[in-house]
Amino acid sequence: MLQSVIDVIATADYMVALTGAGISKESNVPTFRGEDGLWRNYDAMELATPDAFRRDPSLVWEWYAWRQGLIANCNPNPAHLTLVKWEQEGILKSLITQNVDGLHIRAGSTIVYEVHGDLWALKCVSCDYKGRLDVPAEGIPPCPKCDNNLRPDVVWFGESLDRDTISNVYQELEKADVCLVIGTSSFVQPAASFPLIVKQSGGLIIEVNIERTPLTSAVDYHLSGKAGEILPQLDLLLS
Ligand code: OAD
Repeated sequence: MLQSVIDVIATADYMVALTGAGISKESNVPTFRGEDGLWRNYDAMELATPDAFRRDPSLVWEWYAWRQGLIANCNPNPAHLTLVKWEQEGILKSLITQNVDGLHIRAGSTIVYEVHGDLWALKCVSCDYKGRLDVPAEGIPPCPKCDNNLRPDVVWFGESLDRDTISNVYQELEKADVCLVIGTSSFVQPAASFPLIVKQSGGLIIEVNIERTPLTSAVDYHLSGKAGEILPQLDLLLS
């Protein structure tokens, strides 16, 4: 099985990767689902929706500032670093991530589509201002342009993905002949369907996960284990 995966990666014309929270688990960033997932202890509807922000912006910011503080102390792991190496070697053409932790970019990946946004990015709730934080937020940051509330520029439940990002992502998926899917539960749409677009046009899907997911029955190869171990192992066998 491992040798077949190596052959697929080595002969791919255009391999893209889709990542989820599981790739950052070994960097100590909590995942959303599963045993110690964030959504076990926190209610997404109270923290990650536009309504929740309208109701209680302080509570929402408190939660995001906590996550910013947590991520500021985390570093990319060998899975992130392997994807950087593969991009530099031309093996990986682009990286689509659902993660808002910024670890792919911090690791050194440059062709990254952050479809759910970025934990450090800000936007105003009423004007077109966009900005960034480099330290965790304190209270509710005010908009420097109109003084209304700034919010995290991430995609909340019930919101659409950024139109330009998604259009670039679909272009990448249409070009791809291999989709490497790493550390996502494949529950959240539309990202959960991205690999199927590659498959529909005759491409292959390789899934790396510690458990089976709703996507597993559709994939060509399922590698069971931790991303931080499997990716460097694949890289070693590739060279
Ligand atoms: P989830 O928390 O739903 O799933 C994490 C996946 O990673 C699970 O399938 C785990 O089995 C797997 N996993 C855990 N540790 C791993 C490891 N070391 N190596 C490989 N796999 C591992 O995270 P996502 O699928 O990313 O959206 O969640 C999708 C979206 O749901 C998130 O982007 C977020 C959330 O609500 C928004 O906030 C909009």
